[in-house]
Amino acid sequence: MDELSLAESRLLLALKDGKAHPAGSVPGFATESEALVAADRPVRLGLVAVQETVQSRADLTPEGKRVLAEGFPERRVVRLLVGRGAVPLERLATLGVPAGDVQVAVGWLRRKNWAKVEKGPDGTMLSATAEPMPDEQEGALKDLARASGKVLADLAARGLVALKESKSRTLALTPAGTTKASTLRADAAEGTEVNQITPELIAKWSTMSPAEKAKQRLRPFDFNVPVAVPAPGKAHPLTQILTEIRQIFWSMGFTEIAGDYVESAHWNMDALFIPQDHPAREMQDTFYLAEPASIVVPRADLDRVAAVHETGGTTGSTGWGGRFDRDVSQKAMLRTHTTNTTIRHLAAHPKEPLKAFGLGRVFRKETMDATHLPEFTQIEGIVTEPGATFDTLVGLCRHFFARMGFPEVRFRPAYFPYTEPSMEIDVFYNGRWMELGGCGIFRPEVTKPLGVRDNVVAWGFGLERLAMMRLGLKDIRDLYVSDIEWLRTAPLR
Ligand code: PHE
Repeated sequence: MDELSLAESRLLLALKDGKAHPAGSVPGFATESEALVAADRPVRLGLVAVQETVQSRADLTPEGKRVLAEGFPERRVVRLLVGRGAVPLERLATLGVPAGDVQVAVGWLRRKNWAKVEKGPDGTMLSATAEPMPDEQEGALKDLARASGKVLADLAARGLVALKESKSRTLALTPAGTTKASTLRADAAEGTEVNQITPELIAKWSTMSPAEKAKQRLRPFDFNVPVAVPAPGKAHPLTQILTEIRQIFWSMGFTEIAGDYVESAHWNMDALFIPQDHPAREMQDTFYLAEPASIVVPRADLDRVAAVHETGGTTGSTGWGGRFDRDVSQKAMLRTHTTNTTIRHLAAHPKEPLKAFGLGRVFRKETMDATHLPEFTQIEGIVTEPGATFDTLVGLCRHFFARMGFPEVRFRPAYFPYTEPSMEIDVFYNGRWMELGGCGIFRPEVTKPLGVRDNVVAWGFGLERLAMMRLGLKDIRDLYVSDIEWLRTAPLR
């Protein structure tokens, strides 16, 4: 992008005379910093060259001013000596030379070779034959601007001048800048420029005529300049995906349902016709609670479910046989799936067509690894209506995963005690099939005792595995590690 802004054009035109201008006095620029700001990008584009020079400046100190007025101490002393022969050092004070100057004078008389300094029996004697010509130090003090660096350094060492370094910059066009300046239209640096695109300007823009628009000088922006990447607050990637899932179900007319983490074995297992001796109910698979250790289940619910388990009741099934243990049914636990919420919802609304989904945390005693978490989230749902069939189920599952971005799904026959048929769903990801959850049609042992007449198609998917695939993670645990860099760079959906 080599279009120039107004100020940049102004600078190039100001330098068009080919001279190097001190940055503080570029025609049309009030201050040095104004010119340097305008020069910033032209310098980077190779159009303008900045030359920096360090200058040292010398100023008379108060002592220097005194010496300039009164003469150098060695000059004053040598004048006294001329025509007097050898003079003892002590006499200088009586001749009017201040004590402080005597020391200095003697040293320089020696160095400048203006007088002989000899130690005799009567002390230090000074003698000069003729008055010397003015020397370079004396000349320099009168005209600091012309003094050489060496002499200025001597004067500074004597405390007569103060040396200060200062930087000065000049700006000049480079050959490329000269070419560029010659192509600038005469009015390139005239008028005003829009430096900021404001909402007001955008609103006004639509009402402006083409001629008016052409008059607006928009400041060119360089989009290649590196800038800091903003890290605004945003929803966690997992939360974003939950929102997306909700929107998919809402768009199909589903109602969201939710339940508690703490549940009785009754609603988590028994009401779903999971036999009381099922291996998944063992201590090593399920978190049973010590407090509360049990949850009271209404007598009617216990009776109804007990009949189904023992004999099949009125469902046409033979049940599991044996004796149904009501204490086992009232054991308190952390729910192992969200199907507890589904079956409670169904029990509360047995006679209506339902489309419901739930998103909830479940708990299993599982060893954590790259694809397993002991706490994870299920995407659960049911549809029940007169026309609900196996096709309804398969179609819904396919539709859901396709909308989540995974059109390739596979259904495998599986087994759950509460569905028939039962299937597991795999999604193709990263060159392999990943198991995402189960689904099926609730068995009569589950639905009939509640008074549900229509088919109930049901499913439960794992959110974190889905999220892992969506976010391209290799390890499911990364979802719950607060890696700030990952959170910052995860895209907004
Ligand atoms: N509850 C099952 C699980 O946790 C999933 C499922 C839900 C299967 C509904 C069939 C019907 O894996």
